Amino acid sequence: MSDRTVQKVRVKVPASTANLGPGFDSLGMALNLYAWIDMAVADRTTVELIGDQMNGIPTDKSNLIYKVAQMVFAEAGVSIPELSISMYSEIPLTRGLGSSASAIVGALAAANALIGSRFSTYELFQMASRLEKHPDNVGASLYGGIVVAFWDDERAESIRLEPDGRLDVLVAIPEFQLSTEKARAVMPTQVAMKDAVYNLSHSSLLVAALATGKLGMIRHAMKDRLHQPYRASLIPGMQTLLDESGNYGALGVALSGAGPTMLALVDAESDRKTELESFLRGTLAKEGISAKLLWLKPCDGVTATLLAEGDEGLRRLVEKEVLA
Ligand code: HSE
Repeated sequence: MSDRTVQKVRVKVPASTANLGPGFDSLGMALNLYAWIDMAVADRTTVELIGDQMNGIPTDKSNLIYKVAQMVFAEAGVSIPELSISMYSEIPLTRGLGSSASAIVGALAAANALIGSRFSTYELFQMASRLEKHPDNVGASLYGGIVVAFWDDERAESIRLEPDGRLDVLVAIPEFQLSTEKARAVMPTQVAMKDAVYNLSHSSLLVAALATGKLGMIRHAMKDRLHQPYRASLIPGMQTLLDESGNYGALGVALSGAGPTMLALVDAESDRKTELESFLRGTLAKEGISAKLLWLKPCDGVTATLLAEGDEGLRRLVEKEVLA
């Protein structure tokens, strides 16, 4: 341990949506659903999982948060083998809202704060991309806002765009889980040049539309031929939602990450929000799928706070402020 080490930190890390349609593995947006992680130097490693949502997640040293933290310490040449970790998450698991990216980013940010922030955010982004392979999710959870990024197996680069304040986000989160692995396995290993060009042009136009606030362009730009057509077979009702949500008030619609959550961008001033909700809910219900609908906003990235002796524990904070 070094004298720059602090005893206890708390991070708050947002969910993320990846791809935004055509920007496969390269566009992401932070969304205001959160996970919290408390991390402290300890005599013996303990992992406290608050709430039912994380049942089954390891609570020993095979825990992902613990392992990622140890990676940070090793990289910094610091030894903190025993940690006390508490976590709570309102981000649904394996639904396409970046829960694993948020865990990785949260663990990196917490461990880095514990060792006096030796690594820059850019360095954390490199580590997160190496671990997660999807810079769109980790970039969004780390930097917040809208992130345009690449990961080329060696390095990651990104630029954060400030989301237009008029953007609201409606997500329909189906009750079933879908692993990223399964959702990637249905995709071809090669694509036609015309489909590659289709995505390049649509993704570029989407970035330009988001960067300049030309919200009316989103419905033309938010279209994809690289992954959604293949993944539609895994999510009944998805193709109808992609084809028709624009008729019910959405600015654009996409599969959120690898799914199964569907995401619609909506003008915050729209008077058709209830109509859109009914369309999303009804279309999935026709396929026998019940879904939880949430209105979200783009938000800032991860934050870390140093905790002092006597600060309230995470369980208390969750009971008082999150679940209240
Ligand atoms: N961009 C990734 C995918 C996100 O669509 O497979 C997975 O988290």
